[in-house]
Amino acid sequence: MELILFSGRANTPLAQEIAKELKTRLGRIDIKNFADGETYVNLLETVRGKDVFLIQPTGFPANENLMELLIMIDACKRASAGRVTAVIPYFGYAKQDRKTSHREPITAKLVANLLEKSGAGGVFAMDLHADQIQGFFDIHIDYLYASQVIIDYFEGKKMKNLCIVAPDVGSSKRARSYAKRLHADLAIIDKRRPKPNVAEVIHLIGGVKGKNCLIVDDEINTGGTIINAVNALKDNGAEKVFVACTHAVFAGDAAKKLQESKAEEIIATNTLNVAPEKKFKKLTVLSVAKLLADGIKSIHEEKSVSELLNPAK
Ligand code: R5P
Repeated sequence: MELILFSGRANTPLAQEIAKELKTRLGRIDIKNFADGETYVNLLETVRGKDVFLIQPTGFPANENLMELLIMIDACKRASAGRVTAVIPYFGYAKQDRKTSHREPITAKLVANLLEKSGAGGVFAMDLHADQIQGFFDIHIDYLYASQVIIDYFEGKKMKNLCIVAPDVGSSKRARSYAKRLHADLAIIDKRRPKPNVAEVIHLIGGVKGKNCLIVDDEINTGGTIINAVNALKDNGAEKVFVACTHAVFAGDAAKKLQESKAEEIIATNTLNVAPEKKFKKLTVLSVAKLLADGIKSIHEEKSVSELLNPAK
């Protein structure tokens, strides 16, 4: 099967970089909105019998980007594509992966159902908010972690006396793996969310006095979790505090708050297209295009994707 890539409108620069890495071009596609806002998609070249990869993170505006992806998948299936893989570098609607209160939805499962029903044969994602989302799919799901790109960058700083910090208990597995790879200590923040979008630090587990800290998280949304964590570390005597996340969601005035925070640098990746007004001086954006391109190549050639998780150095 011949490989063909298409991009939705959510992150065209990343899709172009991926195409360049794969020494190919993006397929021609027309995507626009009808006067009433509905999405129109037209594939401008054949996909018959082809191995189609549709690149579309489902971040802000999540409803628009998700619906656009579903419509693209539908267009491919109706045009007799051989196989359609949804490449979703940021998998939106993942926060609700279980019911935390009565009469709540499980949106991550709903999105998985929608992707399957629309005709996706597989999903390729990066740093899912919760690993258990993999189990919401009955089609194949492959995933990679951006930590390899972030660790390679951070290693370059040759930071001494380093402590990796998990900003909440749920992030401790990720932080432990960073600590192992960077030969650093580990600290964990016990965070509480009294209500959605509000984060409070309860305890800091582990000593950070006099240490350089790197807080690692999957995403920065409002910035509340990270700013509280930076303040807690500084209050407990940390030296320099760095922050790394995969997904730069940066909702509301998060960018301003992060720039004004006591953090030295905020490191993120380009799974989401960071709009110019969301960029700030302390922000470093690393590219995951090569990693995603390698993953697409492996899926296309029916080779192991998990081998990309821990490449021999
Ligand atoms: C929480 O489970 C996540 O890992 C992030 O810490 C969270 O999504 C960040 O949200 P915010 O920036 O709004 O505190």
